[in-house]
Amino acid sequence: MSFLSVNIFLHINLLFTRSFMIMLLSFIAIQLNLCFSNIPSSLTTINVNGHFSFTNNEFAAKDYGNQYQFLPLAVLHPKSVSDIAKTVRHVWELGPSSELTVAARGHGHSIQGQAQAHHGVVINMESLKSPKMHFHLGDGLPFVDVSGGELWINILHESLKYGLTPKSWTDYLHLSVGGTLSNAGISGQAFRHGPQISNVHQLEVVTGKGEVVTCSEQQNADLFSGVLGGLGQYGIITRAKISLEPASQMVKWIRVVYSDFSTFTRDQEHLISSENTFDYIEGLVLVNRTGVLNNWRSSFNPKYDEQASRFRSEGRTLFCLELAKYFNPDNIVETNEEIESLLSELKYIPSTLFMTQVTYVEFLDRVHTAEIKLQEKGLWDVPHPWLNLLVPRSKIHKFADEVFGNILVDTSNGPVLVYPVNKSKWSNMTSAVLPEEDIFYLVAFLSQANPLSTGKDGLEHILSLNKRILDFCEEAQLGVKQYLAHYATQDEWRAHFGQRWETFQRRKMAYDPLAILAPGHRIFQKGVLDL
Ligand SMILES: Cc1cc2nc3c(=O)[nH]c(=O)nc-3n(C[C@H](O)[C@H](O)[C@H](O)COP(=O)(O)OP(=O)(O)OC[C@H]3O[C@@H](n4cnc5c(N)ncnc54)[C@H](O)[C@@H]3O)c2cc1C
Ligand SMILES: *[C@@H]1O[C@H](CO)[C@@H](O)[C@H](O)[C@H]1NC(C)=O
Ligand SMILES: *[C@@H]1O[C@H](CO)[C@@H](O)[C@H](O)[C@H]1NC(C)=O
Ligand SMILES: *[C@@H]1O[C@H](CO)[C@@H](O)[C@H](O)[C@H]1NC(C)=O
Repeated sequence: MSFLSVNIFLHINLLFTRSFMIMLLSFIAIQLNLCFSNIPSSLTTINVNGHFSFTNNEFAAKDYGNQYQFLPLAVLHPKSVSDIAKTVRHVWELGPSSELTVAARGHGHSIQGQAQAHHGVVINMESLKSPKMHFHLGDGLPFVDVSGGELWINILHESLKYGLTPKSWTDYLHLSVGGTLSNAGISGQAFRHGPQISNVHQLEVVTGKGEVVTCSEQQNADLFSGVLGGLGQYGIITRAKISLEPASQMVKWIRVVYSDFSTFTRDQEHLISSENTFDYIEGLVLVNRTGVLNNWRSSFNPKYDEQASRFRSEGRTLFCLELAKYFNPDNIVETNEEIESLLSELKYIPSTLFMTQVTYVEFLDRVHTAEIKLQEKGLWDVPHPWLNLLVPRSKIHKFADEVFGNILVDTSNGPVLVYPVNKSKWSNMTSAVLPEEDIFYLVAFLSQANPLSTGKDGLEHILSLNKRILDFCEEAQLGVKQYLAHYATQDEWRAHFGQRWETFQRRKMAYDPLAILAPGHRIFQKGVLDL
């Protein structure tokens, strides 16, 4: 900065004219630029097959949540795993005094800046196209070998060419493999197959020291366990082998409505514990949605408008069970019989049964269809103050009484999902944080905020509702864990992990001792591992 001070000194007795001000400002700009350019210039010494970009990186400061915007210094667009390894190794070698951090960015669909790196390096995982998607069909169970930056929607389309499909999904498929495996990947198939992190054979990971490590249950098992559900804290997933099964062509997609929460959850729990059951089981809460049944039915399939209008929903809290059964056209008769038999065991309001038939891809990619409509109306790129909770089964009624009966006066800000899963289907060897009980419910408040509103549909109001829900869970000691959690302090993270914190921290010391990776979670601070 001495150059700047000399300049200021030389010009100090000049009159403060407009031109002088402009000159001074431009000097400051140049100086600041020089300051910051040290780090990028050190990055440019790394010999990569892909490239770094230092400008137009605004996209890397954005995510689906639309609430946090931290601009990185540089974005790496990698072409090979060694690009990623060299970059992390470079940052590792700069040591603890450098403030540089590294965030892998999958599809940027985090809610609170988890894939961002303030003044750090963001790695744009979608440009990593190696390995080329490769299917293993020989002896043993089929699997696909993919890049950690691959999107699930692409894996679906490619797998179907071999008549195969991954088993466990998320509700939305325009997400990356590395992004969902860093969390869990929970959807309506998890009751049967477990989450996505229970359906992975092997990973290739770049650790926080820049080492490339292959890991599985048999090989480097500690790293494998750590990385699955590990919030990107131990390494960057560059490659994954994902378990497959034969795919069906078609799906019967069913919705039925309940007015009583106990009946609804009893049926859900019955269905997830039956041997012979549906292939997908979820549920929705509808609080005081005037005419909503008509709306969601027509978005579901416009042909059924008339049938739908017989059921009035006004002012009530209703619970909608959503089911799917996969089938091939040649066994439609058996499928219909099976569905009839399964439905006959349920106690929904008979007039609310609604069934449609779609292709397997249409079913799995259903949220993207909604996305396109919202995009057209400019309603996709708005703030999304989401809250995802895992609620133990024994507390779900207490939770529902207060939250659906009292805190939420309507669900007009977005869908609220409620469905149970069985922990026995989850590998016990991952970093995912779960409630104590065997059966727990995923309760997802998927709100969108009107960016211009200060009212009921505004960000502040929705955030305050989320806080009321969390405060209630805390006070009533429901043993709830957040999924896709976000905390401001390490103490809160410590409480989140509970007795697993020690393991979490030990692994951080082993695989990313300078806390270079995934700074957006704000669990550890660069260079300061507090043990
Ligand atoms: C519309 C929508 C629907 C969703 N539905 C579901 C659902 O049904 N079930 C469910 O479980 N989740 C769901 N999610 C949440 C989603 O799984 C997570 O937000 C996920 O992280 C998004 O993936 P991404 O590729 O966009 O990740 P990003 O936002 O890019 O990254 C998320 C985190 O993972 C890290 N990361 C990214 N890539 C890698 C990598 N290769 N290696 C290591 N770390 C990495 C990032 O640093 C960051 O910390 C949904 C999200 C949206 C927006
Ligand atoms: C959960 O799964 C385990 C193991 O398969 C089973 O014994 C148990 O009955 C299941 N619980 C419920 C409620 O379905
Ligand atoms: C339900 O919504 C309507 C209109 O949106 C509102 O007037 C009414 O007060 C709400 N009822 C309850 C019980 O909140
Ligand atoms: C994890 O599950 C395996 C079986 O899948 C079991 O053998 C092992 O004891 C379990 N470990 C823990 C810590 O519960």
